[in-house]
Amino acid sequence: MAGRLIDLPQPRGPLSEQLFEALEGPPHARLAAPGLIEADDPVADEDLQLALYVAYELHYTGIRGVDESWEWSPSLLSFRGALERPFEEAVAELVPPAEAQELESVGAALQEIVADDPGPPLSRYMETQGTREQMLEQVVHRSAYQLKESDPHSWAIPRLSAGPKAALLEVQFDEYGGGNAERMHSALFAKTMKGLGLDETYGNYIDRLPGVTLATVNLMTGFGLHRRRRGALVGHLAAFEMTSSIPNRRYGNALRRLGYGPEVTHFYDEHVEADAVHENIAAWDLAGGLAAEEPEVAADVLFGARALLQVEARWATHLMDAWERGETSLRSPLVPAAA
Ligand SMILES: [Fe+2]
Ligand SMILES: [Fe+2]
Repeated sequence: MAGRLIDLPQPRGPLSEQLFEALEGPPHARLAAPGLIEADDPVADEDLQLALYVAYELHYTGIRGVDESWEWSPSLLSFRGALERPFEEAVAELVPPAEAQELESVGAALQEIVADDPGPPLSRYMETQGTREQMLEQVVHRSAYQLKESDPHSWAIPRLSAGPKAALLEVQFDEYGGGNAERMHSALFAKTMKGLGLDETYGNYIDRLPGVTLATVNLMTGFGLHRRRRGALVGHLAAFEMTSSIPNRRYGNALRRLGYGPEVTHFYDEHVEADAVHENIAAWDLAGGLAAEEPEVAADVLFGARALLQVEARWATHLMDAWERGETSLRSPLVPAAA
């Protein structure tokens, strides 16, 4: 398979316009970092989240017509920093600080955090009444992450000491197919997309993805690219694994109810099994292990878990609200393309 390569998406405002215009030329210092960014709601801001997503994509993929050395260009990094700050602050406002007693056992605290937060009923809705169009939309939203599943959390590998690193690798080995490229979870997701008649090419749907969807990925990439957030990255992964098994069973059931077979449900079926195992490794050996070895990041582990739940809830609520209004949850409807 050829390497990843995406097209620059359409800009959505002054930030993405300025960034994409610069990226079309050779790396230069004239890309001036924006001053104070005034976004009412940075988590769902179309322009900010798209610009940040593309700035981050430089680390994951080639972009057609964009010089690869932009990735470490100082002007790009300072532009990106200006986008990260309001997003980080907005997420911090959503997350209550960890309590002292939670830090005594981070594994137990994670279990409580997850148990106390049922989240919006998106997977339950899909299982019982979601339509085919809604399922396709859900999959398109998820493609922003699932086609590079696990890559953001791999940034943690060189930053962990032996115990938590071994735990992370135990999870990642499964995520990456256990030595079999076809069983890689990103490949299983591509198979689901193909089976649904969607285009499984990496990055194909960026223009349709709203800011709140891009934010779910920007959150983990941001944690991943900053070593100082290794605690949050690990907490994010732990909570992700701990909240995966049941929704994935429901999405699998939704697809079966809609008449799809094992080719399409394989990704979901695999996660019902795998994540029941991963959640314990991630909560206790990885997150608990990191907190025990580096107590100074323990609070950030819980921050990462809570941030995941909050941002995912914003995303799920966006979908449910759009459907309730009888509208597409994407920036433009899929039906003409998929039909
Ligand atoms: Fe997975
Ligand atoms: Fe997993």
